[in-house]
Amino acid sequence: MAWKPSLFVGLILITKIDTGKTYFLKDSNKYTFPDSFKFGVATSAYQIEGAWNEDGKGLSIWDYYTQNTSLVGDGSNGNVACDSYNKYKEDIELLKQLGVNHYRFSVEWTRILPDGMINNINQIGVEHYSNLIDGLIAAGIEPIITINHWNIPRSLDHLGGWYNPKIVDYFAQYADLLFNLFGNRVKTWITVNEPHSVCMRLVGRLRNIYNTIPSGVAEYICGHNFLKIHSAIWNIYQTKYKKSQQGRLGIALSLQSYLPMTDSEDDKKAVERALVSAFRWFCDPIVFGDHPEMMVERIDRYSREQGFAESRLPKFTEEEKRQLKGSFDFIGINNYITLRVKALNDTVDEKPTFQNDFAFVEEREKINHDYKKTIQTYSDGFGDMLRWVHETYELPEIFIAEQGYSNSRSINDVDRVFYLQTILKQLWKSINEDKINITGYTVWTLLDDFEWVTGYAEAMGLYDVDFSDPERPRTAKDSARFYQKVVAQKSLSGLV
Ligand code: NOJ
Repeated sequence: MAWKPSLFVGLILITKIDTGKTYFLKDSNKYTFPDSFKFGVATSAYQIEGAWNEDGKGLSIWDYYTQNTSLVGDGSNGNVACDSYNKYKEDIELLKQLGVNHYRFSVEWTRILPDGMINNINQIGVEHYSNLIDGLIAAGIEPIITINHWNIPRSLDHLGGWYNPKIVDYFAQYADLLFNLFGNRVKTWITVNEPHSVCMRLVGRLRNIYNTIPSGVAEYICGHNFLKIHSAIWNIYQTKYKKSQQGRLGIALSLQSYLPMTDSEDDKKAVERALVSAFRWFCDPIVFGDHPEMMVERIDRYSREQGFAESRLPKFTEEEKRQLKGSFDFIGINNYITLRVKALNDTVDEKPTFQNDFAFVEEREKINHDYKKTIQTYSDGFGDMLRWVHETYELPEIFIAEQGYSNSRSINDVDRVFYLQTILKQLWKSINEDKINITGYTVWTLLDDFEWVTGYAEAMGLYDVDFSDPERPRTAKDSARFYQKVVAQKSLSGLV
């Protein structure tokens, strides 16, 4: 599909930015958030933990691919990363400094179940997360667990990974164990992070290695399994744990902001297809119980014309639809960028591809020397996107599970401060003027980390990490100090 490798992760590096520290732009005092509003930060296990083979941990696909292929541009890996596995207490201190209400982190499947399966539980891994959770609670910070964030045990990958329908059972057993172990203390759960990214971008990358994985087929099998995983976990939680644990469960879906490349009707229609292919594919089944009609109609028709015996889009049974519908307490949204969408010729290709199914290409709104202008576009797009979600789904609760900004490494990150000012102002407007029920905001990310295929070339953290030092010292950036003030006063007053 249209995600080019260069778009895989994060934003374009900024090499030149203003050095002036004019954070305090003139504006009013009105930007106060509701008392109940939660500010937090997010990380994911592989990106910060390191300790890839310590204390009985099993091998994950990211351990394997980073060490055995040229998947990552700068040849780096997460073997040590920020060493947060060993330095988690220090990380809790940083979170305390920030004063955040919640910390969203993911559990590394292979630390708990080294072989991916329930027969072998690694007690040291269990203790690690238990200690982290206790430390957070003692610090007054709510732990939010992402059960799966982009990674999977290598042993299960050998069995076909996300393409094997058995993954639903393995995942459900793992999630059940986590509820059992930590559900007395963890009250907010995110089942999976960005299934779309895994099914599109990660699989797309892996296709370079396993070039036999067919586009226009693999993505939908992967998506189908993810949706069944989500629904299975929801079901387990409702039937076994909800009553005693009283927690809440959601999913984190990526949703960028989309604009047509031109004012043409074709490009505007292509935006609708982009939204279906990127977001509605996952959100519609969870909210309404089935795939969007447009998706079903297109892929069924294309498959028929291409000579397939059945649609390339797997279908849910009536029972599965019933179980999927309404399987959430909140929908988490990960939003980063604005994409310009251009229509492609809407004709059926002989050979199926995901891109042909949706007939568009997208291009990212580029950050250039005028970063303020780009950030303003991001922020306007963010507002439009929230309105679109609100109108399309009428959700009882939206939670911003990730939003972040990528630049080159510097502790004087004036551009990230400007980004936060602009975006948070928009967030306030969405809550107060558009009356959208957004209950929390989560910055990606606490620390400069391993940013997947771009390795350590991108900096996205509120804290800098010196990766050349074995101690991995952390240093607060200007953005950390800015966010700390926002969180402390739950308001942008005097800060924008
Ligand atoms: C979304 C992913 O959830 C996260 O892991 C990644 O690092 C950020 N986007 C930044 O690209």
